[in-house]
Amino acid sequence: MLKIGNVELNHGLFLAPLAGVSDRAFRSVCRKFGAECTVSEMISAKGLHYNDTKTAILAAFSEDEAPFFVQIFGSDPEIMAESAKKLATNNYKACQNTCYPMGIDINMGCPVPKIAGNGDGSALMKNPKLAGEIVKAVSAVVDIPVTVKIRSGWDDEHINAVEVAKIVEENGAKAICVHGRTKAQMYRDPVNIDIIKSVKESVNIPVIANGGINTADDAKRMLEYTGCDGLMIARGAMGNPFLFEEITAYLEGRAYSVPNMEERMKVAMEHIRLMIDYKGEYTGVMEARKHLAWYIQGQKGAASAREKVNHASTLDDLEKIVNDYLRNF
Ligand SMILES: Cc1cc2nc3c(=O)[nH]c(=O)nc-3n(C[C@H](O)[C@H](O)[C@H](O)COP(=O)(O)O)c2cc1C
Repeated sequence: MLKIGNVELNHGLFLAPLAGVSDRAFRSVCRKFGAECTVSEMISAKGLHYNDTKTAILAAFSEDEAPFFVQIFGSDPEIMAESAKKLATNNYKACQNTCYPMGIDINMGCPVPKIAGNGDGSALMKNPKLAGEIVKAVSAVVDIPVTVKIRSGWDDEHINAVEVAKIVEENGAKAICVHGRTKAQMYRDPVNIDIIKSVKESVNIPVIANGGINTADDAKRMLEYTGCDGLMIARGAMGNPFLFEEITAYLEGRAYSVPNMEERMKVAMEHIRLMIDYKGEYTGVMEARKHLAWYIQGQKGAASAREKVNHASTLDDLEKIVNDYLRNF
């Protein structure tokens, strides 16, 4: 049982924040298949500060997603606090939410140059003092839990997750997610599970393990080795929201049978229709192309279907491709 604030999660199974992927449609689908909690795509604190319209779209949530965290990135404690307060109180123009986040998560892991080069995301791993100040400033203005997502460190010479974890705990963080890779590694293996274990042994708040959890076996091994309180799944869920159900069954000792292709495609189309509901047909279909490709990845006939998917521009196109694919599967 993982408890953060007043929310209790049985296994602490999270869908990770995934910019460009974990939008409200994907978050709803993953919740339906056993993700106990989700995290939004990272949202720019500066964007919220300037009431940017694109940012407003990222900060829109629906009740079927709850419980969820909203993740912000930035490095100015004041602006981070101000934007967190807007999100926590739903006081954000241009975004008519009917529900509230269960917590605010702070991004201290994003490695992309546009973010880290600005002193945001993973750059905060190089500045533990500022990381602490941000957590303190945000915690002072919101009533909901503040959590932090960190990496193992900046590079192999600077593995400082334990130091950062202790500082953010001292400054009010209520849970920490550790991605067991350095910034320099980006998303490449190996995942350093020893550092995740060390963080777990060094702090008194819940620790959530992240990195390389792609099967139920990976999940069990990660929990057993690190002693962590929860797990965060990222790329393993892309095109495979069923992974949450599989992990839950495995952890509970229940039998599980993987969905057949027809079932997978049914869920994929539900997912795509939700994307279109939220974003309109054109944007929905453009963004759905990659999701559909992930749903069929590694399956018979995937390469030629993907080629057709890349030329689809309407829902009808995608439905036809999926029906043809199933007929020939
Ligand atoms: C496409 C993509 C987008 C991501 N966006 C975010 C993000 O917005 N915030 C964040 O904290 N991490 C982000 N991450 C990192 C993931 O949440 C996760 O930490 C990382 O992928 C490692 O987990 P995995 O090995 O299960 O994929 C992103 C990763 C990918 C691949």
